[in-house]
Amino acid sequence: MENMVSASILNADMLRLGDVIKQLDQAGADMLHFDVMDGVFVNNLSFGIPILKAISQATHLYLDVHLMITDPIRYVKDFAEAGADLITFHYESVSDPFATIEAIHAAGCKAGISIKPATPAEAVIPFLDKVDAVLVMTVEPGFGGQGYIPEMTEKIAAVRSAIDSWDHEIMLEVDGGINAETAPIASAAGAEIMVIGSYLFKSEDMAAVIEAVHNLSRSEAAD
Ligand code: DX5
Ligand code: ZN
Repeated sequence: MENMVSASILNADMLRLGDVIKQLDQAGADMLHFDVMDGVFVNNLSFGIPILKAISQATHLYLDVHLMITDPIRYVKDFAEAGADLITFHYESVSDPFATIEAIHAAGCKAGISIKPATPAEAVIPFLDKVDAVLVMTVEPGFGGQGYIPEMTEKIAAVRSAIDSWDHEIMLEVDGGINAETAPIASAAGAEIMVIGSYLFKSEDMAAVIEAVHNLSRSEAAD
């Protein structure tokens, strides 16, 4: 199983966003990670539907939308129509998770559920027969550029073993503080999609960063 990179554009140069996305595509990114924040669910505001729509018209990359918003079900249809492929919402939001997953599927997208650092792995278990992805936050959501929380490694492993007991495919994604040191750790614990933001943009060679993640197979990493 090859690991994938979902490139987070939260801290990209917004005036050059179109070029940045082309660069990420050429560098081999598998997905674009689009962080939506409402200033209530997290203490920050980012971007929303019109920007996603513009991006989807400009790229063929898979669009991985991470909703850090209070009542995600209200906006599912809009994000789907704007071009989202995977819509991930937070377990800690106020929307009913079952209804939200259903709304995401009805809108024609894959559905993911995300948990914040304080939420235990067990919280996602009731939803595993319905979701296509689980996103384990490895930092407190809200900002790019924070450090990976080491205690999350055990949670990744717990979610991995819960996922493996189901027979349908569920993507396991990690988000926050992923870099050359932490990607192998998260991968060894069972993560397969690495959201990478600031580390990609700080690196001299984005293609090399992405290739290193691709070459990090889970079994090798666990040896
Ligand atoms: C944080 C966001 C992340 C963030 C990751 O709330 O969900 O996707 O952009 O950025 P880095 O890789 O810098 O931690
Ligand atoms: Zn994110």
